[in-house]
Amino acid sequence: MTQEIDTRIDSGILTIAFNRLQRKNAITNAMYTTLADALAAGAIDPGVRVAVIQGHESVFTAGNDIADFAKGPPAEDPPVLRFLQTIATFPKPLLAAVCGPAVGIGTTLLLHVDMAYAGENAAFVLPFVDLGLCPEAASSLLLPQMLGYHRAAEALFTGEPMGAQEALALGLVNKVLAPAEVNAFAQAQARKLAAKPISSLLEIKRLMKKGNEAAIVQQIADEGATFQRMLGEPAAREAMAAFMEKRKPDFSGL
Ligand code: COA
Repeated sequence: MTQEIDTRIDSGILTIAFNRLQRKNAITNAMYTTLADALAAGAIDPGVRVAVIQGHESVFTAGNDIADFAKGPPAEDPPVLRFLQTIATFPKPLLAAVCGPAVGIGTTLLLHVDMAYAGENAAFVLPFVDLGLCPEAASSLLLPQMLGYHRAAEALFTGEPMGAQEALALGLVNKVLAPAEVNAFAQAQARKLAAKPISSLLEIKRLMKKGNEAAIVQQIADEGATFQRMLGEPAAREAMAAFMEKRKPDFSGL
């Protein structure tokens, strides 16, 4: 298991932490595999009652590793899609603690957690348009449902970052705290849930989610196929090259 994702189980709480600070916790294919494996195991482990995903107090994650993107799509069954299908169907309470940048999947994965806590320094970014790509993680379905169509369109069309207070006002996070307190607060909330009857927690979550789950799973697959195709197209190739060469992309004519 790669050390770039730390996982531990303590008192019924599975904690999954991004740990690749030198790359701003950007997520590689190997890391997606670890994330998916940890959640899949946690879903069936009777010793796990609650899960928490967290980053560092300076950064949650810079999203997909762009060097991995630049290599082109993996042949089939990309690890990111397995991670997304696993998180979207995770049956137990899932919490997130988010400080600093939460780019791309760092923001869209939050649409699948049950409770999210943000640092005052959190910045939620949906950069898909500026990467020549499309949304993922069923965000093209869930953001309009959660924010209303117009706000979702503005977020996805402009790719402009959203701060912690705006995310709180929109209902994307439950509470905003000082960055140094966020992970501890999420853990304290997890401990509260771990003391509750798991039978109730499981049924509450199943009943809240069941109306949307099939559509979410389908949307993740549809977006995934579109995303994989667009990765090989000129706009995305220009965006990736610009990032690696530390210059502004030139989308004229694209
Ligand atoms: N993939 C690969 N490497 C990444 C990365 C990513 N998504 N995000 C950051 N890095 C690397 C940088 O290239 C840099 O490497 P270097 O030290 O060799 O130059 C290092 O991590 C530090 O990043 P830097 O940009 O200097 O940090 P910052 O604090 O100024 O900015 C971010 C942090 C997250 C705002 C910024 O790195 C960023 O916007 N990253 C790209 C996010 C993105 O578009 N992700 C794709 C989502 S689909």
